[in-house]
Amino acid sequence: MSYSILDYATMLGDPGRMENYSAVLKRAVTPDSVVLDLGTGAGYFAVLAGLLGARRVYAIEPNPAIEVGRELARENGVSHRIQWHQAQSTDVVLPELVDIVVADLRGVLPQCVGNLPAIMDARTRLLKPGGLLLPQKDRLFFTIASDPQAFKDCVEPWQQLAADQLKLDCYSKALCHGFMSRESKSENLLTSPKLWAEIDYRTATTMDHQNSVEFKIERAGTGHGFYLWFECQVDDDHVYSFGPDTPVVVYGSAFFPFQHPLKLSPGDSVTLDLSVRLDSDEYQWTWVTKAIQGATASPSTLKQSTFLNRTDLTPKVLRKKQPASITQLSKRGRITHRILTLMLKGKSNGSIAEALAIEFPAANKSHEHWLAVVGEIALDFGD
Ligand SMILES: C[S@@+](CC[C@H](N)C(=O)[O-])C[C@H]1O[C@@H](n2cnc3c(N)ncnc32)[C@H](O)[C@@H]1O
Repeated sequence: MSYSILDYATMLGDPGRMENYSAVLKRAVTPDSVVLDLGTGAGYFAVLAGLLGARRVYAIEPNPAIEVGRELARENGVSHRIQWHQAQSTDVVLPELVDIVVADLRGVLPQCVGNLPAIMDARTRLLKPGGLLLPQKDRLFFTIASDPQAFKDCVEPWQQLAADQLKLDCYSKALCHGFMSRESKSENLLTSPKLWAEIDYRTATTMDHQNSVEFKIERAGTGHGFYLWFECQVDDDHVYSFGPDTPVVVYGSAFFPFQHPLKLSPGDSVTLDLSVRLDSDEYQWTWVTKAIQGATASPSTLKQSTFLNRTDLTPKVLRKKQPASITQLSKRGRITHRILTLMLKGKSNGSIAEALAIEFPAANKSHEHWLAVVGEIALDFGD
């Protein structure tokens, strides 16, 4: 996910996150401290650590917004304490081990590709033995919810006119395998929340998880799905949560819809078997819901997975990823290959653009077009 400066500024409006990370840094940073702000974004926690008197702060972030961090450091008079690295943390070598790592790398849920590998790398390669890793833990909770609006927004997000004009069942069939960020309200809960998973960043080696939990319905209503959210333990004394009734600033709870709404009465049982697994390029969520509605009813079982909501996993795509598959380069592939070859020979962007205009005349593109193409490749693959 690529954040804008507005995203970074908005994150500063999240009271739970701001108050807890700030309080822990205030307590932990001393004049001897060396701090790493991993995923510094626009630099806020790096600059705060500098202001709190840290001897040295390393701030790492691939997003160009890191430049705003440099400016923030100048504005607050702590530039001399902070070393900035525009890079992925796993590519950065620091001249010393650090005492504190701040790594708030999550989205609406902690399972974001690259998050745990970055934390594992920092804790084994960059943090002093016994150093402080922030946050320490996430706990994920879930509960059955009656939320018709969240259900509609997930599976029928269109205007009535669209549904009046065409049948749209095939859209809903795919959409029910996805989830979205929502503000959860305690008045919508049909069951008390239960713990689904715990991730201790000081020891975790995987974010894959599976857990099956039975819920007893506590009040009558229509179950539209379940909310899942995390509670963050920054350190032993500082905890905040994105659970029910927390005003949403950036993230709320994740709402997972059921395939279809379930009429539920007190005493009914709903068992949620929820799992998450990292595929090659994405976390896939699977939820199997087994509901027993009434004492004598046979259970209804709903099987859903984000895997079924992906339009990019066509048979053609899967075939291309097979170990035995041999790839013929497309025109774009040949252009990229040519650009990289000329870059390896030390050619300037301008001379590569000129060469492309000659070598790919059928494209009939201007010099400015080729220059923009070369510039994109330079940003993607350049050092
Ligand atoms: C949720 S934002 C937090 C930004 C900032 N720390 C703050 O509190 O305002 C997470 C940031 O981590 C960055 N990030 C994720 N993985 C990273 C990695 N391996 N190395 C450096 N930055 C990373 C993302 O680009 C993003 O800017």
